[in-house]
Amino acid sequence: MSDDTRPHSSAYFGEERDYWWNDDYLDLLARRLRLDQVRTLADIGCGIGHWGGSLAGHLAPGTQLIGIDRDPANVAGARERFARRAPDRSARFLEGDALALPLADGSVDLATCQTLLIHLAEPQKAIAEMIRVTRPGGQVVAVESNNLFNRMAISSLTPETPLERLLAETEIAWRQVEGRRRRGLGCEYLGDLVPALFAEAGLADIRVWLATGPCRWCRPMRRRSSRRSSMRSGVGAPTDPVPATGPSSPPIWRQAVPTRP
Ligand SMILES: C[S@@+](CC[C@H](N)C(=O)[O-])C[C@H]1O[C@@H](n2cnc3c(N)ncnc32)[C@H](O)[C@@H]1O
Repeated sequence: MSDDTRPHSSAYFGEERDYWWNDDYLDLLARRLRLDQVRTLADIGCGIGHWGGSLAGHLAPGTQLIGIDRDPANVAGARERFARRAPDRSARFLEGDALALPLADGSVDLATCQTLLIHLAEPQKAIAEMIRVTRPGGQVVAVESNNLFNRMAISSLTPETPLERLLAETEIAWRQVEGRRRRGLGCEYLGDLVPALFAEAGLADIRVWLATGPCRWCRPMRRRSSRRSSMRSGVGAPTDPVPATGPSSPPIWRQAVPTRP
């Protein structure tokens, strides 16, 4: 048994997480989100700043980045990493709960999260908070995965694979995922539900971009060298790692970008 007592997410932080996104995809995202016009961006459940840090290079000089996480060690880690990697950028990192953000109403242009909602028992409450702190006409951006897909996809499938085994693996995957959800540990397929949650929360102009692509263990050796492969497959795609139940498979995730009415 592992004696690692770090929170689950921390086990998946590290340099490789900076490579979840290829530069060409970040460029595309920056254009879609008009990041150059954003003056205040809040990264909720920021961890040690991988997602916010990926966006930072696309923000206009002087844009304020605010990272919020409930884990003080992550907040300190994000602060330290950001100071080292983007010393010319304006950023502050706060300890806080996604369900009660330490930000004023309408105080940011864009509120975003990456693989936060899948960990929450009540993701709709975090979405409501992101909406509250976003100014009217601003954007709420959730980048969330469907990790159930990772468990289900069996890339080594052959015609000889017994049907019973496939059914058993499928049942195990569903039981694991549903067990976690029923225990309030989050919903691993939440990425598929985000657009509906956004609509229920009253957001307008909801856009969804679905990406599949190289999985997390296909780490590019150089960021730009990944450009060609990502263009071939159409995307660069991260997902939140889960214990593998089979060989690696491409992740699937969704991103919904609404603007407030
Ligand atoms: C999977 S990590 C994602 C971190 C970061 N967004 C990234 O992609 O690198 C989830 C993060 O959400 C944070 N978190 C979980 N529940 C939270 C809550 N209720 N309020 C604030 N942060 C939370 C965890 O501490 C963790 O840093």
